[in-house]
Amino acid sequence: MKISAEFVTSAASATDLLGDGLAEIALVGRSNVGKSSLINALARERVARTSAAPGKTRLANYYRLTRGGAAPFYLVDLPGYGYARGGDAAAQEFGELTQAYFAEVRLKPDAMIRAALVLVDARHPGLDSDLEAWRWLTTVVEDAALVATKIDKLARGQRIRAMRELESVFEHSVLPVSAVTGEGLDELWKLIDRLANSRKPQPRSRDSRPSRPPRAAMAQPRRR
Ligand code: GTP
Ligand code: MG
Repeated sequence: MKISAEFVTSAASATDLLGDGLAEIALVGRSNVGKSSLINALARERVARTSAAPGKTRLANYYRLTRGGAAPFYLVDLPGYGYARGGDAAAQEFGELTQAYFAEVRLKPDAMIRAALVLVDARHPGLDSDLEAWRWLTTVVEDAALVATKIDKLARGQRIRAMRELESVFEHSVLPVSAVTGEGLDELWKLIDRLANSRKPQPRSRDSRPSRPPRAAMAQPRRR
């Protein structure tokens, strides 16, 4: 199936967030977990910048993807958590931008579909920060799914153990993928198609306040 992908824009702060009506699927996860790499793997081209060093993605980067005859949607590459330049402890938690991004879901509940893919490293199942991220996100978006990245790095036995542990800790199904071998990408596309096309029947109150993420955080510097 033909896939086209293009970088559209970067948002440095809440006022720059796109929200133009297309469905948006945000990738959330620790720095270096493989968010940008997964976007490239789904796009089948290098649209997003990746790095072996954590903290590469500093802005909310929007990529418009179209697959076959389906409606276009955005994959939104958000800055990773769990990493801070200069030892800034506050910035190790959710960035202001990520909080602002998901706060909009509550402010404009009917405007568009916003779903989240929470990425966790298959080699490190059940990290507290990942669990906190998942718990917080499931209170702010209606549709969130868990993806285990870098599954190619685990041998068969390790991988069975890791997947079992992940699913037990998160009490949710987890989809194993690899941006390197392409494993799991067909299933991930199916999941994305479902997320991008699910209209929510129950409107939310416009007065509802966004819930707070686990800890306060600092703004990210301006750099893609
Ligand atoms: P930040 O932008 O810092 O938040 O990181 P990120 O989550 O976007 O990670 P990125 O995609 O830049 O990947 C981090 C490192 O992991 C890079 O060296 C990638 O090549 C590597 N990587 C990503 N996905 C995979 C994978 O599926 N398998 C393997 N073996 N390596 C991967
Ligand atoms: Mg990145």
